[in-house]
Amino acid sequence: MSRVPFIAGNWKMNLDHQQAIALAQKLHWTLRDVGHNYEECEVAIFPPFTDLRTVQTLADAEKFEIQLGAQDLSQHDSGAYTGDVSGAFLKKLDMKYVLIGHSERRQYHHESDQIVRDKVAAAFRHNLIPVICVGETLEELETEGAAAVPLRQVKAALAGHETVAEFIIAYEPVWAIGTGKVASPEDAAAVCAKIREAIGELLGEERAQATRILYGGSVKSANVAGYLRSPEVDGVLVGGASLDATEFSGIARFQKHIGV
Ligand code: 13P
Repeated sequence: MSRVPFIAGNWKMNLDHQQAIALAQKLHWTLRDVGHNYEECEVAIFPPFTDLRTVQTLADAEKFEIQLGAQDLSQHDSGAYTGDVSGAFLKKLDMKYVLIGHSERRQYHHESDQIVRDKVAAAFRHNLIPVICVGETLEELETEGAAAVPLRQVKAALAGHETVAEFIIAYEPVWAIGTGKVASPEDAAAVCAKIREAIGELLGEERAQATRILYGGSVKSANVAGYLRSPEVDGVLVGGASLDATEFSGIARFQKHIGV
């Protein structure tokens, strides 16, 4: 596979900065002890904002190969936006990635496709790689099928940018997040394939082939192999199971389950 698999842990609003040290350290040690090859499989964690400086300091001191990202950023660069966090600040903290448009942000913070698009532009301005999250609710699945909403969201997020640098797409069916319900590997792969097609139409085949497309929603070490067996699925975005170092490192070692 020419695309390096990407295993991402979205910690959501869990763990204060002291707890974050314990988890990040344990994950680093666990993957080191099993000789994880980060060039063959990238691993990234997305702690809450208040943990980022602490985790970054630890990662720096211990020479982590685990990459770091934030869970959100402002579409603005600075100014009177109380509570928001600029991409410039995240870059200064050596963040490589930023999640954008997670369904929990779309749902609880009313983030529209336009806001998501503007946040993607902000990520590009600050040389952060956006992990653009898309996915349909159960109602949308029933009325429009699995691919319609994610495709609409991908097209909206990528529309009309001055420059488009590297980005990642995470397909996370809303009904599969934190519910224990999962999209079947075949269904997930089919939506990922359609997303790649749409990227090809928008940005050309080369970009489509280079872009990593992930599945997310109740991924665990016991079911990850099913998704990553498909050449269409380039990694996973993990919520709950990323809070346990042993379980998350098991997910990062998915190649052992599929015998690659
Ligand atoms: P769960 O893995 O807990 O279902 O969460 C998925 C998710 O939302 C990751 O961003």
